[in-house]
Amino acid sequence: MKALILAAGKGTRLRPLTYTTTKHLLPVANRPIIYFVVEQIARAGIWEIGLVVSPENVDFMKSAVGDGSRWGVRITYIIQDKPKGLAHAVSVSQGFLGLDKFLMFLGDNLIEGGVAPMVEKFEKEAAAATVLLKEVADPRQFGVAVLDKRGDLEKLVEKPKDPPSNLAIVGVYMFSPKIHEAILKIKPSFRGELEITDAIQELLNQGETVHTKVLEGWWLDTGKKDDILEANRVVLDEYAKRSVLGDVSPDSKITGRVEVARTAKVIRSTVRGPVVIGEGAIVEDCFIGPFTAIGNGSSLRKVIIEHSVILEDCKLTDVGRVEDSLIGRNAKVTKVADGRQSLRLMIGDDSEVQV
Ligand code: TTP
Repeated sequence: MKALILAAGKGTRLRPLTYTTTKHLLPVANRPIIYFVVEQIARAGIWEIGLVVSPENVDFMKSAVGDGSRWGVRITYIIQDKPKGLAHAVSVSQGFLGLDKFLMFLGDNLIEGGVAPMVEKFEKEAAAATVLLKEVADPRQFGVAVLDKRGDLEKLVEKPKDPPSNLAIVGVYMFSPKIHEAILKIKPSFRGELEITDAIQELLNQGETVHTKVLEGWWLDTGKKDDILEANRVVLDEYAKRSVLGDVSPDSKITGRVEVARTAKVIRSTVRGPVVIGEGAIVEDCFIGPFTAIGNGSSLRKVIIEHSVILEDCKLTDVGRVEDSLIGRNAKVTKVADGRQSLRLMIGDDSEVQV
């Protein structure tokens, strides 16, 4: 059994951050999203992982993820020249996959509880594929599954106006090598991509069995800013521990599950967890509210902030109240010192600012 992580998209919905990194390396609770994915695959006992990346992002990815040895796995980098669809990503990985069964995990998806039970079950079965499903309130923006009486997949419908069920397809799949033949038979969709849902439908058309598993826990698809904030909230809520290792001045107040890294400093501030404060970060005269992650080397002075993700080496000084924000690496936000009310901005392409 092998695993394939798909991380070669464009990430247009997370611009401008994705001009200089890939969304898979954006942090939730100060850890890159893709680390959670690799960790869950390693926990399921799969050690051979193919990581599909774009030519632009391969170097970022290699320096952040490396060869996988820190998780006890071996990572092979596979370049997809253009994001021509999830099924296209599988076809460029055929050399790596050979005739093995494999787990396919979209590298921007996070799920609760891991994939070990799904992998174990699939090892023993003769199904051509298994798809993971999640009940959602509004299935219209997803691939939606129709099940037969036994609970196997009968049909897939892409973004239906009138959904036949509330079961959305999560970005985690199990495949037998039969998927490769199915991919050879499909044509690009109206958006010009080779769709994995079409390949799965092709398996069904050939009379193959596709099993389903409904995810009970949470599922997070981190495609947009608010999804990253939600992932940060859920992951901090679940995993943050109280661990105050850095310097905290006696006039500061730390309540709840707050992680202050060893070389971080908290001065005259209140921090109310769950919060993580990274290595070398400085928090001075601030209120840091719940569900905030402050990246390594960032400094915040005279700021009230909550429900936000601040990446590394940012500087926020005297800016009043910040909430629901995602701030990219090395960004600076400062109050104008001369008391004028006008804003002075230097903002990258595709940035969004609400004042
Ligand atoms: P998407 O979120 O559908 O696409 P994207 O990453 O390009 O983002 P956006 O829509 O904002 O431009 O992709 C889902 C996952 O699959 C993501 O981890 C990237 C990966 N992917 C590939 O590896 N190859 C592909 O050809 C495509 C379309 C996506």
